[in-house]
Amino acid sequence: MPPHVTVVDHPLIKHKLTLMRRKETSTASFRRLLTEISMLLAYEALRDLKTRDEDIETPLMPMKAPVLDGKKLVLIAILRAGQGILDGMLQIVPSARVGHVGMYRDPKTHMAIEYFYKVPGDLSDRDVVVCDPMLATGNSAVAAIERVKESKPGSLKFVCLLACPEGIKNFHEVHPDVPIVTAAVDNKLNEHGYILPGLGDAGDRLFGTR
Ligand code: URA
Repeated sequence: MPPHVTVVDHPLIKHKLTLMRRKETSTASFRRLLTEISMLLAYEALRDLKTRDEDIETPLMPMKAPVLDGKKLVLIAILRAGQGILDGMLQIVPSARVGHVGMYRDPKTHMAIEYFYKVPGDLSDRDVVVCDPMLATGNSAVAAIERVKESKPGSLKFVCLLACPEGIKNFHEVHPDVPIVTAAVDNKLNEHGYILPGLGDAGDRLFGTR
């Protein structure tokens, strides 16, 4: 695996991802599984968060105990399927601030076209995680990260469910400094920009739109 790509290799994630891949899996199950895997991905993606010791009292005695330090984390979902990862990660860090980037893929060129951008005001000094389930061509992720970098965040990571070699290459050619955290790396892209073997269209499966 190239540097800066973490595949979260855990039997629970593998099992849940297999359930998500199955074509007969219902929308409700797909949604629940994406939430569950995203909670587990968050655990890995957020392991660098800083802590500071705070004075507290347990029922037995005072102690210094660690709490999250610094400005609130910012989670940014690439619409629309990124919302699924966001929902899971928010269960782990409910106090995170949230941003959205709307990108659609031009069906012919597969290039990302931005139609919406709303993120918390001051990203400097903040840890920012951009999420989207599928790192396929990588074009949406590259464009979203480019946009977020304009605000000079303190740190930046990309979290996805499935990646492929083509997407990782494209992403790291433009953003070699941004680590990717994923549940798996599949074989390749097809000519329509879908990941193989993949799980189909993540947005359609998450929202039941097809
Ligand atoms: N987007 C998806 O939803 N699925 C893919 O396989 C590729 C991009």
